[in-house]
Amino acid sequence: MDWWKTLIIVGVLASFCHLAHSVDRGNFKTCQQSGFCKRQRDIPEHESPYYVDPTALQISQSSVKFQLNSRSPKAAPLAVSLFTLIDNTVRVKIDEASPLEKRYEVPVGDVLTSEPKEQNFKIIGRDSGKMTLSTANNNNKVIIYFDPFQVNLLVDEKLVTSINSRGLLKVEHLRKRKISSSSTEAAENNNNNNDNENKNDDDDDNDDENDDDDDAPDMWEETFKTHTDTKPKGPTSVGLDISFPGFQHVYGIPEHADSFALKSSKNTDPYRLYNLDVFEYELYNPMALYGSVPFMLAHNALNTVGLFWLNAAETWIDVYSNIADKNVFSKLVEFVKGDQEIPLIDTHWFSESGIIDVFILLGPQPNDVFRQYAKLTGTTSLPPLFALAYHQSRWNYNDEQDVFNVNDGFDENDIPLDVIWLDIEHTVGKKYFTWDSDKFPNSVGMLDRLAARGRKMVTIVDPHTKREDGYFLYSDGKANSYFTKDRQGNDFEGWCWPGSSSWLDFTREDVRRFWSSMFSYDNYKGSTKDLFIWNDMNEPSVFNGPEITMPKDLLHNDGWEHRDIHNIYGLYVHRATYEGLLERSENHDRPFVLSRAFFAGSQRYGAVWTGDNTGEWEHLKVTIPMLLSLSVTGITFSGADVGGFFKSPDAELLTRWYQAAAFQPFFRAHAHLDTKRREPWLLPRENMLAIRQAIRIRYMLLPYWYTQFFNSEKDGAPVMRPLWVEYPSDVKTFGLDDQHMIGPAILIKPVVDQGSVGINVYLPGGAHELWYEFDSYAAYHGGQDLYVPVHLQKIPAFLRGGHIVPVRERVRRSSVLSAHDPYTIVATLDARMSATGDLYHDDFHSNEYKNGKFVHRRFTLENMSTFTSVDLNKGSGRSMITDAWIEKILILGVKQNPSRVTLTSQGQHPVNLVTSYSSQLKVLTIRKPAVNINADFKILFH
Ligand code: GLC
Repeated sequence: MDWWKTLIIVGVLASFCHLAHSVDRGNFKTCQQSGFCKRQRDIPEHESPYYVDPTALQISQSSVKFQLNSRSPKAAPLAVSLFTLIDNTVRVKIDEASPLEKRYEVPVGDVLTSEPKEQNFKIIGRDSGKMTLSTANNNNKVIIYFDPFQVNLLVDEKLVTSINSRGLLKVEHLRKRKISSSSTEAAENNNNNNDNENKNDDDDDNDDENDDDDDAPDMWEETFKTHTDTKPKGPTSVGLDISFPGFQHVYGIPEHADSFALKSSKNTDPYRLYNLDVFEYELYNPMALYGSVPFMLAHNALNTVGLFWLNAAETWIDVYSNIADKNVFSKLVEFVKGDQEIPLIDTHWFSESGIIDVFILLGPQPNDVFRQYAKLTGTTSLPPLFALAYHQSRWNYNDEQDVFNVNDGFDENDIPLDVIWLDIEHTVGKKYFTWDSDKFPNSVGMLDRLAARGRKMVTIVDPHTKREDGYFLYSDGKANSYFTKDRQGNDFEGWCWPGSSSWLDFTREDVRRFWSSMFSYDNYKGSTKDLFIWNDMNEPSVFNGPEITMPKDLLHNDGWEHRDIHNIYGLYVHRATYEGLLERSENHDRPFVLSRAFFAGSQRYGAVWTGDNTGEWEHLKVTIPMLLSLSVTGITFSGADVGGFFKSPDAELLTRWYQAAAFQPFFRAHAHLDTKRREPWLLPRENMLAIRQAIRIRYMLLPYWYTQFFNSEKDGAPVMRPLWVEYPSDVKTFGLDDQHMIGPAILIKPVVDQGSVGINVYLPGGAHELWYEFDSYAAYHGGQDLYVPVHLQKIPAFLRGGHIVPVRERVRRSSVLSAHDPYTIVATLDARMSATGDLYHDDFHSNEYKNGKFVHRRFTLENMSTFTSVDLNKGSGRSMITDAWIEKILILGVKQNPSRVTLTSQGQHPVNLVTSYSSQLKVLTIRKPAVNINADFKILFH
């Protein structure tokens, strides 16, 4: 090999084999280093030069289309289409009126599940200055102002969103390059123009549409470090401001290692969305990470509004807040004067290419926005149960014996486990779909041995393909011209784990089909139905590429540049893998695929995790805001490496990490190659016991988790949720991101500080709300900060009064082995002595539930006098026959022991039930009602 190639590999691998110690910021662009970010961000707030000709509106029943002209002669006219959609949603698309060539739009079906359904509006007002629309069955209004162009959205007469009120709408129109006499002159011109622009805010220059700028250095070519982006189309960015009057909190736009409530970016870079492999990422800054969901939620005590910016190119978002951005002096003046400004969040979105395609979801409540967003991008498909259980991973479990030892270790220590993971070293030379036969001579035997204990395996399959003739994936990909192309039309070559690699063009449907077919048992030799998949490095990560990813000027299907689709590449990989697993079972079994990169809509294909975090307390803390941000933007099934990927956490940190993650959706321990082994039994016994306890609690609660995921597939509501989803008007919850809820009934505040002896938990809901401590059953009123003393085993968690939570108490080796176990039903009384909740049950792995083969019951306890079970799956007429039964009902908060408790099931004679009552704990236990979970029954308390 050439010496220089060796040097590159050593250099690249050194940085990835983690000899460095924190993020190398120099590898990633700041806004100042990105031409379009700078140009868009520098536009001063001003009256928009764009206006509408009110006589030329094209109005249909559900859309208004018009042209925007600009007072700036250099700005090309724009075409606007405004649609009213079903379920309180408004879509605004802005493109060039006559672009030189078509600008990129994500194909329908790839992010949007289908063409959004329109809903007719009424025109309720029109004059020379504006036009007001309202959809027939709601109280929302859309006001289009003609000059300057602006769109306001109102809910119940309240202005909640304003588009282009700060005049920042800007589309860099496609143009032909003019060749200048000398590049120096061009650069000078550009500098002068920039000077002028800065001085002159009022006139047209701030549109930056001056043709003289066409030769500015970063418009037609942009160099970052040693990489030059050839930018053959020149400047193509689009930008728009969207404000939320009356709001002080916005959330979402993952992925950033930052607080849940977004911070003002006034004194930092904007939040960046550009899928990147960031080595040893830093916390609490707006730098881009592995995935992007351009969806933001604004929330206040009365309303929740969603903003979905459908654009797959690099995107930056500025967030300003009149309250947060106020300086100390003006705060003081306000305080003295006693008047308070109405809060306002201003956001400014800009993407490098494509069009402006914005959806405003008008709520009005959090669950409405989740449903509205789900209608556009889909929901998380119900995972197979094992995927919600505990996963054990590390880079790497070295060979079959190592796998068996880990497998046995869990059994010997009575710790439940469902999945063991294999990282890149299990392959031959990082050629995916192969097994290193020295280490894994009999993968089928190994998989079967795990399956005998109800366990599964996951192997890693990354999207870089080793360029080695004779490797079937490479040969077939090359022969069919399936790889992403460089500017010369050759297969792009870059570096990743295998060394020299190429990347399949996953934007193409035929390539995705090819990839999917690789998962058939014939093609993926040594795989079985118990093997599932992990897609990593799919940002895509290219070790020697600009910002460790693909050059933007590479070419995809139909000639689209990588620039146009970058943020969606990872979703396509995830999707093709998901479809491969579906095909392998002829659509019978539910796939499980974990992905590192993601985009809006990735939820449909499985789980994501937060990548290469570090075994430090701060990284444990940030898991909560990071996972909440994913949760509220549709990525319901997400988790973080338990213990941290880099570095070796001490026993206390690792224990606390397990306890927090046992209450997070995707629960997997994972660690870097160089870290100390950390299987739970390698820790001091008291830590092992605490970890075992946390994992057992996870398993005990699996019926509740599973039910929540089933509901989420239907309504799009997150399973891990911020408190404000359940208490939308409790302003104290808006800034909280160190505690959260699972579904509507469980609140948790994990211990995330070293040496903690106590923790303050905010119990929301006011004095009428009741909360029951998870392990003592002690009852507390809401509306207070409760101090909870903690020891190593303690996980501060509470059950909300008025709810019913199904659990399974028998400890098994894996979730699969508990499939036929009976359930315990835990009811927590509210102030009205009532409770309600549901239980979902099916075969836990197949798609049969889509044909109605499931049990879904609603349990209701009324006034501590009757407990009923009602069938929620009546409609399908095809419910499921099951032997699962209820072995115990636990009722918390019972003030008095009833004299007699009787059960009537399926119209039979009432029978007396055996109960016991603890007057100290206020718990009534009904033993062995022994009723099938799918039976209609009634329990009476006399
Ligand atoms: C990446 C992944 C990490 C994995 C490693 C080796 O760093 O994020 O989870 O272990 O690659 O495949």
